[in-house]
Amino acid sequence: MAEKRIISILSGKGGVGKTTLSVNLGAIAASNGKEMVLVDGDLGNPSVGLHLGLWGYTAGLQSVLAAKCGLEQVTIVHPATGMRVVPSTLEYSSNVKMSKLKDVLKAATYRSFIIDSPPGIASGVEEILSSCNETIVVVTPDIPSVMSAVKIIEIARKKGVKVDGLVLNRVQNKRYEMHEKEIESTCNVPILVSIKEDRAVPESISAKMPAVLYAPKSKASRSFQQLATELGFSGKAAGVKGRGGMMARFFAWLSRLFGGE
Ligand SMILES: Nc1ncnc2c1ncn2[C@@H]1O[C@H](COP(=O)(O)OP(=O)(O)OP(=O)(O)O)[C@@H](O)[C@H]1O
Ligand SMILES: [Mg+2]
Repeated sequence: MAEKRIISILSGKGGVGKTTLSVNLGAIAASNGKEMVLVDGDLGNPSVGLHLGLWGYTAGLQSVLAAKCGLEQVTIVHPATGMRVVPSTLEYSSNVKMSKLKDVLKAATYRSFIIDSPPGIASGVEEILSSCNETIVVVTPDIPSVMSAVKIIEIARKKGVKVDGLVLNRVQNKRYEMHEKEIESTCNVPILVSIKEDRAVPESISAKMPAVLYAPKSKASRSFQQLATELGFSGKAAGVKGRGGMMARFFAWLSRLFGGE
């Protein structure tokens, strides 16, 4: 059986847009019928549930890590998209060990995950890196964010995790911002997508909805869609569509041949 696909969303600095990206990628994948379970791996500051208006749950990833139940038992279905979400409970518990994460994901029936992570090398990040096989690193176009991303990329690579690329977020094209080329050469990683500063993002968080649902035509939402397509979440990737088209033409030709049309 093929290896599970486990993608972590990381950053060097905090507050750059990891949770926003995670919920939007998860929403796009689910809307396209792709199984991508969104796991809130930020035990210290869980916010996936807050972005999605999911609360009132009494069990979450912590309960699974403490071996009180299985991952499926704490999974919530996000009503608007059908996205599967493993929330973290808001109460802080110091004795929950992220070291079990790898086994928990391995044991789960689900095969694909997005893990929203805490920033930098905060507690839990090393365990997330040990549990995933791909990572996307979010940066903003400023030196502190990019320099701290360099560190996290180095740790990811040392752990044998494939760094898919950077997501450059909150771009305003101001003179003081780092340029894309400078960021790529500093990190030695390509930028997968560049997302503009867009008020649709804070508005969507306030509405407790992913931006791709709240404002699908906004600049940020178009960028989330572009990235999802690149990652193969959307079902609209050119390659997939192309293959489908060719197969469809082939079957139509076969059916004409044998159906005597
Ligand atoms: N493209 C954008 N345009 C405008 N605001 C944005 C954009 N992306 C994120 N934000 C804002 O940035 C803030 C932080 O976003 P988010 O919570 O996703 O970051 P984070 O990296 O998960 O933070 P933390 O490190 O604390 O977990 C939010 O208030 C959000 O509205
Ligand atoms: Mg976050």
